[in-house]
Amino acid sequence: MIHIDRRAFIASLGGATAVAAMSAEARADALENYLSVSISTAAAAAATVQRAPTVAELEAQIPTRNYRRGVGNGLVNKDGGNVALLPPLPEKPTLADFIRLRLQSNAEHCLQSARLARIKNMDEDIVFACLVHDLSLSLMRAEHGFWSAQMFEPYVSEKVTFAVRHHATLRFFPDKDAGYEYPELYRSMFGSDYVPPPHQQAEYQWVRKHRWYMAPRLVTVNDLYSFEPGVKVSVDDFTDVIGRHFRQPKEGLGFDGSPVAHIWRTAAWPDSPL
Ligand SMILES: [Fe+2]
Ligand SMILES: [Fe+2]
Repeated sequence: MIHIDRRAFIASLGGATAVAAMSAEARADALENYLSVSISTAAAAAATVQRAPTVAELEAQIPTRNYRRGVGNGLVNKDGGNVALLPPLPEKPTLADFIRLRLQSNAEHCLQSARLARIKNMDEDIVFACLVHDLSLSLMRAEHGFWSAQMFEPYVSEKVTFAVRHHATLRFFPDKDAGYEYPELYRSMFGSDYVPPPHQQAEYQWVRKHRWYMAPRLVTVNDLYSFEPGVKVSVDDFTDVIGRHFRQPKEGLGFDGSPVAHIWRTAAWPDSPL
């Protein structure tokens, strides 16, 4: 049964012509953002492609692009248009400033995930982990669990770092008891015959036995269908959660001399040529 309203989905992207001009990648991203809690995984796949490509077919597409698939969503306009001029950041930018002004490409998805976790009355550290789990996607898509974890490690608890770091790998490994199934969308993104590489298999085996296994697992549970059309979530709804789970450096993110300050400065000025 298909719950997705394809016409509404296409309209939300600017119409059929706009959709036709989008890359398969951009369409998959848009769909992931569009999916509502009520959409079945089968419908998601049906709306994305008729038949998921194989790993070899996806590889053959690589030389047809002028960017690599791992590039951050905020660094390239995959629809072929130009990138936008960025608004200035405050002198001592906070996490909320970055979410509002720099990391928007995945902020909406993260806010929706956090909202879902909060509705389900999950522990607040899980709500916070959901709130930040994909924010590094603005800068880098490849290895995004590790990039996101690294960005946040100096400012959050060990458990939040663990949840964020390993959520990306757990996405490839279903856990029915926890309510998480393999995302149909991944068949079109990674290939119908994709098998995670040995280092990810090993990471999964290790995390599976860890006492904090459920932390990244709960991030994946709130991850897939976290966009409810018509529901607008503001970062202001999470001011209290951020206050309790994020140690905001008084100098501003990027200026506190932490080992990851340069990542925040890169997010602040992604137009810098060096
Ligand atoms: Fe993710
Ligand atoms: Fe996500």
